[in-house]
Amino acid sequence: MPGPLLPTLHTPRLTIRPLIPADAPAFTAYHNDPEIARYQGWDMPYPLEQAEVHAREMQVDPSLREDWSTLMLEGAGGSVLGNLSLRLTGHRTAEVGFTLARAHWGQGYAAEGLSALLAWLFTQADLHRVHASLDPRNVRSAALLKRVDLRFEGCSVQAYWHRDGWTDDAHYALLQSEWQEKHDT
Ligand SMILES: CC(C)(COP(=O)(O)OP(=O)(O)OC[C@H]1O[C@@H](n2cnc3c(N)ncnc32)[C@H](O)[C@@H]1OP(=O)(O)O)[C@@H](O)C(=O)NCCC(=O)NCCS
Repeated sequence: MPGPLLPTLHTPRLTIRPLIPADAPAFTAYHNDPEIARYQGWDMPYPLEQAEVHAREMQVDPSLREDWSTLMLEGAGGSVLGNLSLRLTGHRTAEVGFTLARAHWGQGYAAEGLSALLAWLFTQADLHRVHASLDPRNVRSAALLKRVDLRFEGCSVQAYWHRDGWTDDAHYALLQSEWQEKHDT
């Protein structure tokens, strides 16, 4: 069964909406920042064509699916601040990812966007579990996951080869019931 259509969400400071081809230059620019790419899986340099192809694929299938989809984080005046990523990983489970252009770090935008996405995933998409994983050296990402209540569940040691060496993989997750407990008044 196909997943739900990807949403457009609004928060006090953000519009969160599916990637479109016109976003490709901005998306590519911050993907090519070595500081942004350090703990992420894409090859460098990240080509513009890859972003364009991804945006077109999403237009063909604008649903939550097993392949990664991208939601852009748009700030005031329509400026692109970064993106969230998501994919289905099993029956009512999904993985999320997140990236902000460096100029927009330290202002709470990722937490604001990810919180809104979690709300959508646990209510509209009725998911049971949302998870994320990261290189434990990626401390800003670990802090972000903690901020939005994902639980650290353990770390696989030297789990995958990344750029210049074997890399640990730290696992985080949140259940729908836990999210509901925190958000039901
Ligand atoms: C991971 C990443 C998105 C986190 O960005 P971030 O800006 O640190 O995250 P947040 O949106 O949660 O912002 C939190 C910071 O904003 C500050 N802040 C300022 N205004 C705020 C507000 N209105 N609301 C909340 N926080 C606010 C917080 O105090 C916190 O500051 P601190 O970092 O000094 O503690 C960013 O570092 C990034 O893009 N990294 C590279 C990509 C990457 O590795 N992604 C993960 C792959 S697994």
